[in-house]
Amino acid sequence: MKIITSVRKMQAWADQRRSNGRCIALVPTMGALHAGHDALVRAALSSADDVIVSIFVNPTQFGPREDFDAYPRHFDEDLEILGKLSSGLTVFAPGVEEMYPEGVQADRISVDVGDMNRYLCGPFRQGHFEGVATVVLKLFHACRPHVAVFGLKDAQQFVILSRLAREMLLDVSVVGVPTVRAADGLAFSSRNVYLSPVQRKAAVVVSQAVHGAEEAIKKGEQRREALVEIMRSILCREDEARVQYADVVDADTLQPIEKISPGQHVLAAVAVHFGSTRLIDSVFTQAPAGQRVEKYDEGS
Ligand code: PAF
Repeated sequence: MKIITSVRKMQAWADQRRSNGRCIALVPTMGALHAGHDALVRAALSSADDVIVSIFVNPTQFGPREDFDAYPRHFDEDLEILGKLSSGLTVFAPGVEEMYPEGVQADRISVDVGDMNRYLCGPFRQGHFEGVATVVLKLFHACRPHVAVFGLKDAQQFVILSRLAREMLLDVSVVGVPTVRAADGLAFSSRNVYLSPVQRKAAVVVSQAVHGAEEAIKKGEQRREALVEIMRSILCREDEARVQYADVVDADTLQPIEKISPGQHVLAAVAVHFGSTRLIDSVFTQAPAGQRVEKYDEGS
């Protein structure tokens, strides 16, 4: 496996591959790899000739009171996991000074994500999505991929990055890979390691909540208020769960919808604290087309 730490060397490697007609896929990660990342790498391997996995814990997407210093860093284990997936992978693991040459505080240019950070995680994570969009743009310039693969678990991130590519005319196809879940439904996340055994058991309500909303939408529930109530009532079954938000937004604009239109693509999403661990989950779904059901009856 090849490991590259400098932006210039990464660009030279990618340029050489591109000039040989090879298709490059990039899987951006912050390391602490788990089964969810395996699925991203496998999707990348099936869609390109060369796959780059970047491992970079990006300081600009963490708020001042967030877990940047404590974020799990297991570089050797990550390499072992990647080696088992394919010996032909290239790992891009730059230092902070490579990605922020002016210094994290001194960098003056960043990506503005408009009002796409106004709902869901945005209000609770000031500057987070600007940090994500900025570092992903830098990773695209460093790795020069044709395809970039992201997990749909980070749904708001995925929608923002898809629009970044579209609106900034980037020549990169942004691909989303479905969330990988444990047997009880909990989505794999690098932060699951922080959960105590009791919290881990209770955390099953997180996926149940978003799937509860999905089922109601499929059965014809159109009202945001009712869907939020369905998600909150499932989450409240566990005393350990402190709900930060539960909401339903348009899947393309990320703006809330008071009443879902027939055929509309929506995203039902939650963020929940278990102690100091914050978990998110979501489902993309589509309302039935042409239906006229005004009120979803939970008994139906
Ligand atoms: O999803 C992540 O792991 C990060 O937000 C990303 C996309 C690698 C940017 O730092």
